Amino acid sequence: MTITVKPLDAPLGAELSGVDVRNITPEDAKAIFDAYIKYHVVVVHGPVIDDAELVAFGKCFGEIEEARFKSPLTTRNDIMVISNIREDGKLLGSLPDGEMAFHFDRIHQKKPCRGAALHAIEIPSEGGDTCFANMVMAYETLPDAMKQRLQGLTALNAFTYGSTQPGMKDDAEKGPHAHHPVVRTIPQTGKKSLYVSRLMTDRVNGLPPEESRALIDELCDHVEQPRFIYQHKWKVGDIVVWDNRATSHARTDFSDRERRLMKRVTISDDVIPSP
Ligand code: OGA
Ligand code: MN
Repeated sequence: MTITVKPLDAPLGAELSGVDVRNITPEDAKAIFDAYIKYHVVVVHGPVIDDAELVAFGKCFGEIEEARFKSPLTTRNDIMVISNIREDGKLLGSLPDGEMAFHFDRIHQKKPCRGAALHAIEIPSEGGDTCFANMVMAYETLPDAMKQRLQGLTALNAFTYGSTQPGMKDDAEKGPHAHHPVVRTIPQTGKKSLYVSRLMTDRVNGLPPEESRALIDELCDHVEQPRFIYQHKWKVGDIVVWDNRATSHARTDFSDRERRLMKRVTISDDVIPSP
């Protein structure tokens, strides 16, 4: 099957068509990976596939990590279930409810993941969109003085499990955390990407607290402008794969009276982010 790559009418992303997601040849895998590196996000509108098929598709992008949270909605240890579904009041998935601020997955680790593929199984009638910010474009459009100011800076990135909004961390260093450059270079392209986010960047190292807060807020305000963002409105069966180095992502609010069920495979990376 010939794969067609059509750039989205957005600051990032491409839609792939002609992809048989259940049966990826090595040539397909290469074309899909190349589109992923070039456009940072790839979208496939396909049928709902099973967990093994999702893992096989995820391998186009690299090695698949074991999921950190187990769910009774899958038998596999490499599928993460993102859902608000509860049984007898008990949550069956992770990242259950509502709005989520911009973040990079696993940036609180020394080696954050390269990306993830999210597959929609059940979606609410409204909201629960996933938004992606082009962090390469966000960096490239900064004024030269700001680019210079960011040179050599590192930041503390932290995550309190269960929190989806910033400002819930008492002491970021008590939980899982990692220090990373504020601007990182993506190995496959040599491009620089802004590596701060509203949810997870706690402070810029070596700056007084107010100055650090003001700088993070200024950078996040810059990133979160509509001109850098693609907002994905899900259809059942969609698979969206993001480059977790060149993009950060967020989620819009949705009703807690509707079910949302997504399955995710996480693509690992073997590099420590470098400037
Ligand atoms: C994630 C995530 C967004 C969503 O899986 O890491 O941020 O739309 N998901 O559920
Ligand atoms: Mn995420």
